[in-house]
Amino acid sequence: MVEHVRQLPGDQPAGTGLACQPGDEPGAALRCFWHPVAWSSDVGSDPVRSWLLGERVVLWRGSVGVVAAADQCPHRGTALSLGTVDCHGAIVCPYHGWSFDETGSCTVIPQSPPGRPVPARARVPVHRCRERYGLVWVCLGEPASPIPDFPEWDDGGYRHVACDRYTWRTSPERMIENFTDFGHLGYLHDGLLGTRDDLTVPAHRVERQGWSLRYGLRMTVPNANDAFEVTDLAGDRGWQRNDYVLTLPYTIHLASTYEDRGTHRTLFFAVQPHGDGTCSGYCYQSRDFDLGGADAPYAEFQALLAEQDRPVVESQLPAEAPLAPTGELHMPFDKVAVTYRRALADLLAAGCSSVPGEGSVPGEGSVPGEGSVPSEASVPCW
Ligand code: FES
Ligand SMILES: [Fe+2]
Repeated sequence: MVEHVRQLPGDQPAGTGLACQPGDEPGAALRCFWHPVAWSSDVGSDPVRSWLLGERVVLWRGSVGVVAAADQCPHRGTALSLGTVDCHGAIVCPYHGWSFDETGSCTVIPQSPPGRPVPARARVPVHRCRERYGLVWVCLGEPASPIPDFPEWDDGGYRHVACDRYTWRTSPERMIENFTDFGHLGYLHDGLLGTRDDLTVPAHRVERQGWSLRYGLRMTVPNANDAFEVTDLAGDRGWQRNDYVLTLPYTIHLASTYEDRGTHRTLFFAVQPHGDGTCSGYCYQSRDFDLGGADAPYAEFQALLAEQDRPVVESQLPAEAPLAPTGELHMPFDKVAVTYRRALADLLAAGCSSVPGEGSVPGEGSVPGEGSVPSEASVPCW
């Protein structure tokens, strides 16, 4: 029956180190946020196995949508993802054929004589599960905040391209932080997102609002159309305005504006923390120009950028970014990452019980060392 198991690429058995078990910190706090676990299109009539924060999760498409449950039969611990889905939308364990409905209740124990009631303990925990933006999102606990915004998703003026699912051997915070790192754009992505002859990071601000960061800057970008038809620039270089929203813990929305034409390209990037030392990034490239053009260059462009980033990010030690202010050498142009680390540390400490309101800034403090980040909610330009 192995052919029924579809384990998503990069999903590996847990157990290589992250402290993301139920009841542990930091996993306990992360359980109270929505995380992507699969593309919706990957969840069909057969069960799919995924991993989230060290927990094995089975996904299947029931009668009313995708169901997410603990991938562990209460009878003998078998992976339900090895089983099948019946015509009622129930998942059937491959070992003894017990059936579990979409609420997790066992409805059939074939070995029991007719009329014998099913024990109340014969149930699997079902997790909160939503489909949004073509992704399946799961929250293992009580949600502390909503699924992050992707404002262009329902805007008919945009065309969306789903990119590859990137699975990297690193921590989710390292993966996200790579998207906050302006300093590497022109160096590592020379000719694509910047150029090595212009590496000075423009002045920018970071605003912290609850569990999100907002930051942005204007920068010149090269016309990459010789390699990928993805930029909307008239000349060899052009001004681009980048506005970011980083929704903690692991989602970034980037809205880029090509200033000479007023067109936009956006990137939505959400990371699945497997809890085993790997993580997966789900990415959309969206645009309001070239609406009739080919989509492949946009996905290929993103794939090339990701492959330039991957070996560098996977090499970073420690794999889990140090959240203490003195953990690494911060420069002024690293202030988004510094602010992210501070906010993530606050989130992990707060757990699910404390969600700050708009404009509140919990736990702000001075960051010692070179390039210290001021303690204001709004970090000013240098
Ligand atoms: S182990 Fe699942 S039905 Fe027995
Ligand atoms: Fe990069």
